[in-house]
Amino acid sequence: MSYSFSFIFSLFFLFFSLFSGQTLAQTAKQGILLVTFGSSYQQAEKAYELIDQKVKKAFPRTPVYWAYTSKKIRNKLAKEGKQIDSPPLALAKMLEQGFSEVVVQSLHVIPGEEFDYLKQVVNSFAHLPKGFKKISLGKPLLYSSKDVKEVVKKLYPVLPKLNKEEAFLFMGHGTEHPADVYYAGLNYWLQNKDKRLFLATVEGSIELEDILPDLRKNKIKRIYLMPFMSVAGDHAHNDLAGKEEDSWASTLTKLGFECVPYLKGLGEIESVVDIWVKHLQQAYKELDN
Ligand code: CO
Repeated sequence: MSYSFSFIFSLFFLFFSLFSGQTLAQTAKQGILLVTFGSSYQQAEKAYELIDQKVKKAFPRTPVYWAYTSKKIRNKLAKEGKQIDSPPLALAKMLEQGFSEVVVQSLHVIPGEEFDYLKQVVNSFAHLPKGFKKISLGKPLLYSSKDVKEVVKKLYPVLPKLNKEEAFLFMGHGTEHPADVYYAGLNYWLQNKDKRLFLATVEGSIELEDILPDLRKNKIKRIYLMPFMSVAGDHAHNDLAGKEEDSWASTLTKLGFECVPYLKGLGEIESVVDIWVKHLQQAYKELDN
């Protein structure tokens, strides 16, 4: 009697654990939140659309949402009738809609201020009572030293071919955050690839004048100008290629260089977007841990 009771009991227990395990797996509702700084430039849409497409292709069954970290951009777009959520608002909405497992992917270039903020948001949602069962955060474009080398390798073949008197100059954003050193690392690998590839920043430590001696030494006459940013937005159209006196294009033209704007965001280049998608796939795997 006691034997059969414990037998039935263990059978019941086995069934129960199998059944509940299965239901748990079935009810996990997974979603992706893509987070970028944001831009109100029409051209930025091109980059965002390509990223959206490539993410949906890699995760065909997972709903994809977007959020912008810049409040200024969100307010500007709201006045034009376009509502974009902040990261915490987007996550709160996903929670309300019943998502239990979420991957947040940073579409930033370096792990700077914006990424630090996003990390804090993700952490607070991870500890929220009745919050997500699982939440993970994907790394920005450049995180490991391997990423820095890889982005140059992927970017180089899609750039215009340069002759001896031409150079390619990237405008990185730059920051007071310690992650500004990524731009120095990037410059190293650009130069390692081709002595006519340069990078300076708008708000970081490598300034335009820092690379002028090398441009002159290499007898460069024509310079292609491209933003090293996810989109060709405000900085690209104004600080880089704008008509204002202090834009890089105006400054370099005054110094005798011929400037050719090459206004394409990194998010418009498939092989570069692949790096963000790879980081998203890595973060997705973390959900299984
Ligand atoms: Co800026």
